[in-house]
Amino acid sequence: MKILVSGGAGFIGSNFIRLWFKNNPEDEIINLDLLTYAGNPENLKDLAGLKNYRFVKGDICDQALVELLAQEVELIVHFAAESHVDRSIKNSADFIKTNVEGTRVLLEAARKYNLRFHHVSTDEVFGSLKEGDQPFNEETAYDPRSPYSASKAASDHLVRAYFHTYGLRATISNCSNNYGPFQYPEKLIPLFITNLIERKKLPLYGDGRNIRDWIHVDDHNRGLELIIKKGRIGETYCLGGAQELRNIEIAKKIIKNFSAELEVLNESETLIEYIADRLGHDHRYAIDFSKAKRELGFEPEIKFEDGLRETIDWYKNNQTWWKILKNPQA
Ligand SMILES: NC(=O)c1ccc[n+]([C@@H]2O[C@H](COP(=O)([O-])OP(=O)(O)OC[C@H]3O[C@@H](n4cnc5c(N)ncnc54)[C@H](O)[C@@H]3O)[C@@H](O)[C@H]2O)c1
Repeated sequence: MKILVSGGAGFIGSNFIRLWFKNNPEDEIINLDLLTYAGNPENLKDLAGLKNYRFVKGDICDQALVELLAQEVELIVHFAAESHVDRSIKNSADFIKTNVEGTRVLLEAARKYNLRFHHVSTDEVFGSLKEGDQPFNEETAYDPRSPYSASKAASDHLVRAYFHTYGLRATISNCSNNYGPFQYPEKLIPLFITNLIERKKLPLYGDGRNIRDWIHVDDHNRGLELIIKKGRIGETYCLGGAQELRNIEIAKKIIKNFSAELEVLNESETLIEYIADRLGHDHRYAIDFSKAKRELGFEPEIKFEDGLRETIDWYKNNQTWWKILKNPQA
C-alpha cells in the first residue's frame, strides 16, 4: 500500500511512520510536512536511506501540491495540525488555517482521487469532565472549549460531512493525551523531564489537580493501525490509555524517577512551582475505548510507569535533540 502521511515530522506522526514500517515493511510512505516549529526532520533521520520513504516539505493548505501527491497513494493518514493549546490561546489564526482549511484541502484531494482517509483527532473536542463523570465515548456531544479543540472539532465535522455527502471512505479517532519519545519539550511530560535534567523547577498550572488520561504514543499508533486496517468506514473510535492521573501526580512520579540523582524524594514539593492557571483550563479528560476494544481488539499495552521510565531515559540520552528546541539561542 502507498500512503500519504501529513505531519509525519511531528511527535505522533514520526512515531507512526516508524511503527508502520516495522509492521508493514513493504509499504511506501510519503511524508508531507511543513516543518513548523513542531516538525523536525531529525525525528525520522534513521529512515533517510529507505527507498520506500519520501519526505516532502510543504503545506497541507497547498491544494496543487496535495493533489499531486494524492494521485500517487491509496490512503491519507492525517496528523498535521497546530497542536499546542497554550499557543492557540495566544493566537488562533494558524490553528484555523492548518486544522480546518488544511483538513478541507486533504479531504478534497481524497474525494477527487477516491482515497481512504483516516483523521487523527483528540478527546479535547468533547470538552471537560467533572470528577465522577462517565468517561468520553463516541456518543459524547462535542463541547470544545479552547481554540485548539474548537479547530479540531471543526475538522472532525468536516470529515464526517465528506463521508455523508460524498461517501468518502473515512474514519476518525479521538485519542487522549500522548507521551513518549520525540515529543516537543513544550508539552507537560517532556517539559517536566527536561526541566529536571536542567535542574529547573516544574511549572504546574493552578492547583495541579487537573486530570488527563495518558497513553503511550506507540499504543495510540497501534490503535490507528487497527482502525486503518479493520475499522468500519464512517465510524469514529475513541482511543485511550486507561491511566487517569492528576498533573501533580505526574510531576511527583517524574521527580521520583530522578530521586537517586537529585536526593529530593522527600522534598518533591520544593521542585514544583505553581503558576497562574491556563485560561479556560479543562479539568478532566477520560476515555472509554470499549468500542475500539470490542470491534478491533484495541488494548493499550504499555503501563504508565514503564512508559514513563523509558521516556525519561530517551530524553536523558537525546539531549542534543531537545536542547536546540528549548534553547534555540544557545
Ligand atoms: N499530542 C497529543 O497528546 C495528541 C492527542 C490526540 C490527538 N492528537 C492529534 O495528533 C496529531 C499530531 O499531534 P502531535 O502531538 O504529533 O503534533 P506535533 O505538533 O508534534 O506535530 C504536528 C506536525 O504537523 C506539521 N504541520 C503543522 N502545520 C502544517 C501544515 N500546514 N502543513 C503540513 N504540516 C504541518 C508540523 O510541522 C509537525 O510536524 C494532531 O492532529 C493532534 O491534534 C495529539
